[in-house]
Amino acid sequence: MDFGRFSQRIPAIAINRGFQWSTKRMYHLKELVTNRRSSASASCATMEYKQIEMEDCDQVLEHLRRSFFADEPLNKSAGLCQNGSSCIALEAHCVEAIKDRMSLMAVDAKVEGCCKIAGVVLNGILRPGNAAKSLKKLDSTSDADFRKIFELLHGHSLKYNLFEHFAVGSIFDVRILSVDSGYRGQGIANELVKQSVAVAKANGFRLMKADATGIFSQKIFRSHGFEVFSEQPYDKYTDKHGKVILPVEAPHIKMQQLYKRICEGDKDDKEQPH
Ligand code: ACO
Repeated sequence: MDFGRFSQRIPAIAINRGFQWSTKRMYHLKELVTNRRSSASASCATMEYKQIEMEDCDQVLEHLRRSFFADEPLNKSAGLCQNGSSCIALEAHCVEAIKDRMSLMAVDAKVEGCCKIAGVVLNGILRPGNAAKSLKKLDSTSDADFRKIFELLHGHSLKYNLFEHFAVGSIFDVRILSVDSGYRGQGIANELVKQSVAVAKANGFRLMKADATGIFSQKIFRSHGFEVFSEQPYDKYTDKHGKVILPVEAPHIKMQQLYKRICEGDKDDKEQPH
């Protein structure tokens, strides 16, 4: 597998394409996340939270192939990937988010000599029209399993349109939340979501969203002040013969589109005073 192919393919100029970053905004992100240590639990006291740069892409994708690609409830139900294997369409989706330069990773500082990624949150900028464009693009995707998943997600975004409801021009979109199976249950996902809220605030977003596909991610987002905007029960996502397209395993029964409004001076609900 050629881990370098994405970072090589993307010209440097394309990295900021999605968003007009001012020097001040980049400063906000660095200041917020570089070398911050988790206060979430004693067991991840050596975890460092950092912005994901384009040069981290290969390692982030390697982490995702071993975690999110196989374990996320919809991917698992579609049989999208075996643990460790690649999925070109999903990798391209991840790289798109990383290009917006608001994604974060938790790195285990205890593992010497290498950058051991324990978890990532990939955040991207969503604009009106993006979901329709992405849905159309699926027509040319040869990966039928990827199409099943993303027809559900993009179709839902189009039907339950946050832009119309909240009258915003851009949304901070929490697209991928993933923690390595060896690091789960230590508060890493909680910390990644908490820091994402801080990044969204620092960069002037008024609205965040997340399509949470399992009961645990739904709980995590709700605990950070996200609210349910719309839901899609998996047993109601059927083909023209009434057959369930994605037979997602219990306890996950529905996808939730969650949102969080950001107001000046808000505190993240879970944030504890240091
Ligand atoms: N069983 C019971 N509770 C759980 C579980 C579980 N398997 N996983 C998380 N939780 C609860 C925790 O108890 C905790 O609750 P608390 O805050 O009240 O103590 C809360 O969820 C957060 O737990 P964390 O330790 O921060 O979560 P973790 O670091 O283990 O990561 C995650 C959770 C991201 C869901 C991980 O299991 C994972 O990577 N799963 C596969 C990929 C996936 O499903 N990602 C989410 C898809 S939605 C999206 O990406 C936008």
